[in-house]
Amino acid sequence: MNEQIKALQAEIDAFVISNEGELDSFRNQFVGRKSRLASLFDELKNVPAENRREVGQALNGLKNSAETKFEEAQEAFAGNTADFEVPSDLTVYNPISQGSLHPLTKVRARILEIFNRMGFSVSDGPEIETDFYNFTALNFPANHPAREMQDTFFIEKGAGEIQDDVLLRTHTSNVQIRLMQHQKPPIRSVMPGRVYRNEAISARAHCLFHQVEGLYVDEQVSFKDLKDTLYHFAKEMFGKDTKVRFRPSYFPFTEPSAEMDITCLLCKGDGCNVCKGAGWVEIAGAGMVDPNVLENVGIDSKKYNGFAFGMGIERITMLKYQIKDLRLFTENDVRFLKQFN
Ligand code: DAH
Repeated sequence: MNEQIKALQAEIDAFVISNEGELDSFRNQFVGRKSRLASLFDELKNVPAENRREVGQALNGLKNSAETKFEEAQEAFAGNTADFEVPSDLTVYNPISQGSLHPLTKVRARILEIFNRMGFSVSDGPEIETDFYNFTALNFPANHPAREMQDTFFIEKGAGEIQDDVLLRTHTSNVQIRLMQHQKPPIRSVMPGRVYRNEAISARAHCLFHQVEGLYVDEQVSFKDLKDTLYHFAKEMFGKDTKVRFRPSYFPFTEPSAEMDITCLLCKGDGCNVCKGAGWVEIAGAGMVDPNVLENVGIDSKKYNGFAFGMGIERITMLKYQIKDLRLFTENDVRFLKQFN
């Protein structure tokens, strides 16, 4: 019996409890009522009476050491789990840093706000578009070189077969057409959105960017209305001292067409690498809506006319915040993004 007690004591001392499974196994073997230690107690009655007291004491010692070891291990695990408990007060201040709006989101909101105050509503249209809305209805004749002004992504039909008439819109001008199809003049709306062009990504070009289109159709709209509207926009967006100029240009959907420049905000007109030394930067294309476009959507071009414009949100954001690389907008680097709080 003494030998058995010594052997069990050695086993208890050597037992390593490092997880809850081992804790269970230790309890089954040495602590519970059906443990091996309990069965030794059962055998005590077979020990000769004169030795019984001594053996009983040894057994009690064994039992105490097993229980102590078990309780200590149990407490240690209880302590560990307490670390992961949900804090009782969920309102305690949690120092997670606050997020911020993307600069393009902020500038888009500001553009819409400025035009809203001049009475322009906001309209939306699809990014996956048909050739009709992106080109044909906007007076781009079939196979006309003007289509090459914008490198287009065409959608695949399946197994690499290109579907000529479905594409990713190259500009937000498609929304003009959809709007005029569904609404009678007077129409006064701005149309923000994402556009796509098949261009290599660099500091100055991207295959994905954002535009805001503008359209005003009513009776007796003049080129002066267009100039005044964009002039007011430029002063609101970039400050009262901003100078504006219009240069003649060409777009199939406007006649006459113009491009609008503002004084370069980085060099204040002296010439720098952003304005390529010119002192001016282009921020919008614009013009009087071509009568063909009005007729294409069933609006009487003898009674109504209008102006339209389109501008790039990235370009305006880069000028406003003096950002020199277009790629920063899509890299999601928080060191860049958190500067626009
Ligand atoms: N859609 C043109 C572009 O992406 C921009 C533009 C120019 C829009 C003149 C217009 C406009 O509405 O009248 O380059």
